[in-house]
Amino acid sequence: MNGSRGATHDVLVVCPPGLEQLVATELAGLGVRRTRIEKGGVACQLTSRQLYAANVFLSCSTRVLVRAATFTVRSFADLQRRLGEVDWSEWFDGMSRPRVRVTTRRSMLWHDAAVVERFESALPKGSTDGPEQLLVVMAVKDRFVVSVDSSGAALHQRGWRLDQAKAPLRESVAAGLLSACRWDPSTPLVDPMCGSGTIAIEAAIRAAGHAPGLGRDFSFQRWPTFQPGTWASVSAEIDSVVAPTGHPAIVAADRDAGAVEAARANAERAGVADRIQFVNAPISALENPEPDGGPGHLITNPPWGGRVSAGDDLRNLYATLGRVGNEHLAGWGLGILVADRDLARQVRPGLTESLQLELGGRQAWLLTGRFG
Ligand SMILES: C[S@@+](CC[C@H](N)C(=O)[O-])C[C@H]1O[C@@H](n2cnc3c(N)ncnc32)[C@H](O)[C@@H]1O
Repeated sequence: MNGSRGATHDVLVVCPPGLEQLVATELAGLGVRRTRIEKGGVACQLTSRQLYAANVFLSCSTRVLVRAATFTVRSFADLQRRLGEVDWSEWFDGMSRPRVRVTTRRSMLWHDAAVVERFESALPKGSTDGPEQLLVVMAVKDRFVVSVDSSGAALHQRGWRLDQAKAPLRESVAAGLLSACRWDPSTPLVDPMCGSGTIAIEAAIRAAGHAPGLGRDFSFQRWPTFQPGTWASVSAEIDSVVAPTGHPAIVAADRDAGAVEAARANAERAGVADRIQFVNAPISALENPEPDGGPGHLITNPPWGGRVSAGDDLRNLYATLGRVGNEHLAGWGLGILVADRDLARQVRPGLTESLQLELGGRQAWLLTGRFG
């Protein structure tokens, strides 16, 4: 397990809980056949090329961790000894500063801060103004798994979502909704409650054939084992991705003018503003952007309200979504991300639970179906 050509890395691709199967499918698209799904991640073996490609091309993941060491220890003396045996030179170039994130469960060494201290004293110091290199340490029943983060900034932080409206979705979750709805990037898409535009912008990025990690940098590029030639060939692949044909209508609408402006500014930064129609209007004004074309998808994340019971305003909003959808988008696919499945029956009864997610400590479901 090192960075040499042809060797494989023992990897955990971390993702929001509920998106694991979608990540495994995306990995299969990169030629990774054998994967094991865990809660909040997908374990697999990746070559260096696949590791680089995973960071650039996976749309639903949070970060890609490479296992650096595993051991069982029950005392700080043993921990220090095992840390002294690890060859950190594969990941630290003398400049990078280690940042250690520790979680312990049912272990003799349960004091996370004290474990962090031992790691910090064993790791190369780096330069005070050097970039951070994250290490993720998980200890369960005294078994320590030490992983080095190959991503850097979380992968859902694509760099364009600087303007935020209320309750924005992670970009990776928006990408997951598009995949789980089986939206075809050559067909239209409407998000009538777009907020900061995350769903529509992820859709436009997909329709343009852009890689989600286009233009950003990654921690693995600073590893002493980094292979510039392999990275150059992955980068060439990014450039050669052919956009799906056609320019489908993608609509980002919201009744809040500030949200629409935020969505527009985000889309401009993402380089896809020319692919999106921005509309400042309430859901009751919903229209079919391609009345003479084939069916597309309405995919949206309506307001959820409080945790207890929904008020009449929210019931009316969900019912209006169902009514105008049936009226103007007959035959279109529907995907709504909700926290209250009873409330979702106002949109349409009999929707399918396509995803079950945990978002910000709250359970959420993607319900899918068809207007008509
Ligand atoms: C949960 S937020 C959407 C967040 C969005 N997915 C994002 O990533 O930023 C819900 C949005 O629905 C909008 N909204 C609420 N009622 C609406 C209505 N009747 N018509 C249109 N938009 C509405 C709100 O202004 C808010 O921006």
